[in-house]
Parts: sequence; C-alpha cells; structure tokens
Amino acid sequence: MRIAFLSLLLASAACALPAATTAGPANNLAFDSPIVNHPYLAVKRPSAPAKQHSFAAAAAAPDASFHHGVASGDPLSDAVILWTKVTSNASEVSVSYQVAADAAFATIVSAGTVATNADVDFTVKLDITGLLPATTYFYRFTSGASVSPTGKTHTIPTADTDLASYKLAVVSCSNLPAGFFNAYAAIAKRTDVDLVLHVGDYIYEYQNGKYGDGTSMGRIPQPNVELSTLSDYRTRHAQYKTDVDLQAAHLAYPWVTVWDDHEFADDSWIGGAEGTKPGLPGPWEPRKLAAMRAYFEYMPIRAALIDGVGKIYRNFQVGKLFDLTMLDTRMSGREKTDIKDSSIVNAPNRTIMGFPQEKWFNDQLSASKARGAQWRMVGNQVTFAPTRVLFDSIMVLPPDSWDDYPANRKRVMDYITGNQIQNVVMLTGDIHTGLAFDVPYSSTKYTRSSGKGSALVEFVGASVTSDGMSFLQSTALYVALPHLKYANGRKHGYMLVSIDKQRVNTEWHVMSTIAARDFSDKVDAVMETASGSGHITYKHISIF
Ligand SMILES: *[C@@H]1O[C@H](CO)[C@@H](O)[C@H](O)[C@H]1NC(C)=O
Ligand SMILES: *[C@@H]1O[C@H](CO)[C@@H](O)[C@H](O)[C@H]1NC(C)=O
Ligand SMILES: [Fe+2]
Repeated sequence: MRIAFLSLLLASAACALPAATTAGPANNLAFDSPIVNHPYLAVKRPSAPAKQHSFAAAAAAPDASFHHGVASGDPLSDAVILWTKVTSNASEVSVSYQVAADAAFATIVSAGTVATNADVDFTVKLDITGLLPATTYFYRFTSGASVSPTGKTHTIPTADTDLASYKLAVVSCSNLPAGFFNAYAAIAKRTDVDLVLHVGDYIYEYQNGKYGDGTSMGRIPQPNVELSTLSDYRTRHAQYKTDVDLQAAHLAYPWVTVWDDHEFADDSWIGGAEGTKPGLPGPWEPRKLAAMRAYFEYMPIRAALIDGVGKIYRNFQVGKLFDLTMLDTRMSGREKTDIKDSSIVNAPNRTIMGFPQEKWFNDQLSASKARGAQWRMVGNQVTFAPTRVLFDSIMVLPPDSWDDYPANRKRVMDYITGNQIQNVVMLTGDIHTGLAFDVPYSSTKYTRSSGKGSALVEFVGASVTSDGMSFLQSTALYVALPHLKYANGRKHGYMLVSIDKQRVNTEWHVMSTIAARDFSDKVDAVMETASGSGHITYKHISIF
C-alpha cells in the first residue's frame, strides 16, 4: 500500500509522538452472542481475571498453549480484531495480550488480560481500539509459561485519505483433505499485500472421502463425520487453524472474511440446505446456529449489528480509493436454492440477499459514490455474471449462483445503471475456477470486441484446494459466453488485486501443485479494468 505524500507526513508525525501504554479491553468477545440483537445466544462471561501474565517469564518457555496460531481481522482506521485460542486442561484460563508499534514490543500501545473457558472453546477475541490509521502493529498473547507467535496487522487509512494504491489477496474454497494450502503459504511469503479477503468456504463440513480424501497427506478432517453439532463445527475450525500455511497467512496480514455454504452445509440458505436431505444430519436451525457460533468464535470478525438472523454483510471505507463491501448471499436472506420450478426461480420478488441487505447494498453503493470513492469493490460469494448458455437453456454451473436469482440480479443491475454508479468490481469465489467477466446490463446490447454494454466487471478466484471445472466445462463456457474473458478450473491459487486510481489489476496466481508442500507460484492470467470503463480493458493469459 502506498499513501499520498501529505497523509504519509501526517501519519509519521503522529507516530513520532510518544505512544502511551493504554489498558486494552478486558472483554473477550467470544462470549458475546454472534448475533448482537439475539443476546440469548451469548454465554455467561467469567469474572474479570486480575492476574497479568508476564511476557518476560513466558518468553523463555516453549510455545505450548497456542497451537492454533493468532489472527487479526476487520481492520478499521482506529481498531482491529485480534484472535487466538489456548489449549489447556484447566476449566478457566486467563490470557494476557500486548499490542505494540514495533516487533520488539518496546512501544506497547495496548495491553490487558482476559479470561476464556470451555464455554467458548478457549477462544479469545478482542476489539483493540484507539489505534492510528494506516499503521502496522504487532501483537502476541501469553498464558502461564507459554507465549504465542507474534502476529502483524495493519489498520486501514481514514476515509478521507488520498490513498494511491492498495493490494488485496483474495482466496476462497480451502478444503483441507483436497490438498495443501500452498496458496496461503504463497500469500504469507509476499511482502506487498495489505489485506487478505476470504470470500467463503474457509472450512468444509464433510467427512473424509466425501469431498477430497486426505488420507495420503495426513489431512483427514476432524471429527471424521459430516458436521452437525457445535462440538463438531468447533473441532473442525480448530483443526483448520492448526494448518501451518493458514497460520502463516493469518500471522502476516489482517483478514476480512465472510462465510459461504460450506461453513454450514452444501448449498445452504436461511431455511435449510442440500446437506439436510434425508440421511444427513439435521434438523437445520440448531445446526445453522452451531455453525454460526463456531464461526464467530474462530474467525477474527466483529459480531454483527443486525435486523435478522446471521447478518455479516459489512462495509469498509479504505481511504478515498475504494469501499470494500462484503455481501452475504448465503445466510442473510437467501430463499431456497436448487429449485427446478421456473415460476419460483423467475418470480419478480426472488431474493438471494434478502430485502434488508439489498436496500443496505444500494445505500452503500450510493454513499460510496457520494463520498467520491474511486472504486466499489464487492466481496461476493457465488458467481454474479450470467453463465447460462444458449438463451439460458443450458446450465454449466450448478444451480446455486445469482443465475438462480435473476430478479435480484436485475434489481442490482438496475440500481447500478440507473444511478450511474461506476467502477464496481465484484470479487467472487465458490466455483473453484478462475473466471473474468464483463457483466453486461443486457446480453443483446453487449459487444464482445469492445466490451460496450458492460456495467461492471467480476473477477472469480480459483480455489485454494477444492476441485474446479474440467477443461471441457471451462472451455465450453469460454466459447459460449462472449462476456467471459478467462476460464481455468484446473488450477488452484489466489487472486492478487491491485487497486489504484486509474485501474484495478487482477493477477490469477496458480500453484504448481497442492499435493505437496514444495510448490512454485506463477501468474496464469492478468485482467485489468480502467476507471470509468465498466469492462475489462486489458487482458493477458499465459499459455504455459
Ligand atoms: C492435559 O492433560 C493431558 C492428559 O493428562 C496431558 O497429556 C496434556 O499434556 C495436558 N495438556 C496441557 C496443556 O496441560
Ligand atoms: C414473493 O411473492 C410470492 C407471491 O406473492 C410470495 O408467496 C412470496 O412469499 C414472496 N417472496 C418473498 C421473498 O417476499
Ligand atoms: Fe467451495
């Protein structure tokens, strides 16, 4: 990330002031309800621990209690969420933390002690406030004789900062038994990323062998059942957090995450899932709430302020350069998915977002335009662009994307074009295939060669490990859809999205293998959209 000269001067002036050591929050947010206006979902908070553990005493001891690493997320210009988990046989443990301006922890800016216990699976989640904008911080935890690894995080610039550029690493679909998380290792090795975006399927709910077999790699999902209880979801999240590559990527950067279906069950929606059909674990409501609670315990995100069940859609104003608007097309209002009845699919009030989120999204887009943000980056789960071929008659993708909610998509497109909202870029996951789309307002008015008629662009990432489209499928789609500029389902990796005032440039980074930890990282394709164009203005696809 680069900041324009003036704000850099201001920021360094502020940094030069002596930083006061402030007592940090004594609240472990893991005890809160994941859903703020459903307080009955909170669990009883233990009384505040008095004892501050000494990092000096712990520093000499091995890292015995922090097997799940540390993480940070949802950075604001003055706050960031910190996360860890303690392994302990005690019924209750206190954990001290430090946040510092330097890696040696000479300048502590926040410190405190919180309690955790089995009621929250020994997770710790803190909202550290009072931080400076666009500033790097280091953080660590200690409990008894153990000290955690040191994590590095970064606050975002204030909304009025004249920010020159910003880089996102975008990931999705990390299925543990399908292979090694080399994409996470590759991201951790970089030094130029500002924020990692995970747009869903951070965990998968399956038993080993049902979707990927991890036996030969020692990556057998725990517990080895299809997840349904709180204990199941917690155990699976905890196992993922022991992956060294995942830990390395959390250690290096703040993340912004949302769930898709597999944090719950395959093809889920607010009222059920494909995975609740007979023979699979149910009933749905307790399963959904268990999955949600485990997600909020284990992920470095702020609990949601909401009007319904399960809202995690939220917005970040990243300088004057862009708004990052995270959608939840899964649990906030999605009507039943996998529907064959076309009168339901094509109903004018069909919704994948739910009406409150749809209104909120429209308001975010307008507010972003009104405040003069250059770009509107949208974190989205399932493919937004139309992908049905031959006049909508042939479905290449499974019936779980925006294609199955056409009225909702049309309302979004109507709003964007009707209000002349430019520079919208969707960043998507779910389909395990690198795809780049111009998104035309009307397929009949779209020109393949010039991109004329496109209202926005969509970049879809390949998966971290989940199986993607076959060569035949992606080639058929590429040939059939004039607005599709790139399709590759055989590779795994991440998208590196570089945003500046003139353009958004996306590189699809692919890993040479996910079957071993030894890999190389190469760029498979580059797509760019120029500010004001509404379509892909530069493309390069590697032929090797
Ligand atoms: C917890 O107890 C088990 C069994 O007694 C022991 O093997 C393990 O080392 C203990 N763990 C900790 C963190 O004390
Ligand atoms: C859409 O309209 C139909 C018919 O009026 C109604 O049954 C259905 O509940 C509505 N769906 C939503 C999401 O409002
Ligand atoms: Fe997935």
